Amino acid sequence: MQNWISELYRHPDFIMMGHQQRTEDMNLGLGWLYYALARIVRTKTVVVIGSYRGFTPMVLGKALSDNLEGGRVIFIDPSFVDDFWKDPEAVRAHFAGFGVNNIKHHLSTTQQFVETNDRGIHLTGVRIV
Ligand SMILES: C[S@@+](CC[C@H](N)C(=O)[O-])C[C@H]1O[C@@H](n2cnc3c(N)ncnc32)[C@H](O)[C@@H]1O
Repeated sequence: MQNWISELYRHPDFIMMGHQQRTEDMNLGLGWLYYALARIVRTKTVVVIGSYRGFTPMVLGKALSDNLEGGRVIFIDPSFVDDFWKDPEAVRAHFAGFGVNNIKHHLSTTQQFVETNDRGIHLTGVRIV
């Protein structure tokens, strides 16, 4: 895990957005909480709504891939901040660059997402299912 965090923190964007991360001691900050929740609950599906550069979906995807049961992250973000999430191949490569291949990104608002028929989950609120 320390090596994985070390690789993650080569990318300065993963130290942003107030998750109390710290590079000096490879501390995920609140990321430990996200990681631990997914490892303890062993949930098969996690929904993440809105992420600047993917810190939260990345950590949750890593946790689910570390579980024997596996699992997937449904990540909903319309890329309102900039174009970062607009190219599906670049999004896939962004997560895959850290060995995380279980994140399905939806380029839409949550409001649009809940109206689609292909979401594959019953979404009634923000929760871990
Ligand atoms: C400030 S950034 C993310 C902050 C987040 N706490 C983090 O650590 O990355 C807000 C994100 O929410 C997304 N967003 C805004 N409105 C949204 C909506 N209606 N549904 C889903 N995502 C939305 C934006 O595209 C943006 O990427």
